[in-house]
Amino acid sequence: MAFETAPYSSGAEPRIVEALRHGGALAVSLVATSDDGSIVGHAAFSPVRIDHEAGHWYGLGPVSVVPEMQKLGIGRALIREGLSRLAALDADGCVVLGDPAYYGRFGFVSDPALTYGGEASPYLQRLVLRGRSPKGDVRYHPAFELA
Ligand SMILES: CC(C)(COP(=O)(O)OP(=O)(O)OC[C@H]1O[C@@H](n2cnc3c(N)ncnc32)[C@H](O)[C@@H]1OP(=O)(O)O)[C@@H](O)C(=O)NCCC(=O)NCCS
Repeated sequence: MAFETAPYSSGAEPRIVEALRHGGALAVSLVATSDDGSIVGHAAFSPVRIDHEAGHWYGLGPVSVVPEMQKLGIGRALIREGLSRLAALDADGCVVLGDPAYYGRFGFVSDPALTYGGEASPYLQRLVLRGRSPKGDVRYHPAFELA
């Protein structure tokens, strides 16, 4: 698994995905498979709530690619496809908590108008799919409390 080598990972990602699934909150879930059918990457998108916002916003994560197949464009393909599926679901946008150097490639931008746990962070980024930029505290599904 890709997360086994990530020092900031709690190892909870598979449990988070399972809890999202059980909670009916796995809005978009994509896997990448190798030629032999084994899963080499996964990206999940689940609804988030943003205080004071009535629109439909989603959070990207977890996303992972097995270490031996990283930097081959698999993560990019999973994220791009997921975002286009969110657009097809009439999503207003997507947030992500992660490295801006990576997620900026997809159009995610940090925005101090958004907070997580009441605090602004450069790692919290949003991508507006339609309408205006949101403002408020971002709350992920309770499944992420397993992290
Ligand atoms: C992050 C991750 C999903 C990216 O998937 P990937 O298939 O390796 O990425 P892509 O091939 O689409 O993109 C590769 C590019 O992104 C860059 N990149 C990959 N991970 C990055 C990171 N954490 N921060 C900044 N840049 C990153 C690579 O250096 C590469 O840059 P280049 O195109 O200039 O060479 C994958 O590396 C991974 O599973 N990492 C471990 C788990 C993780 O950190 N998940 C994200 C937190 S939920």
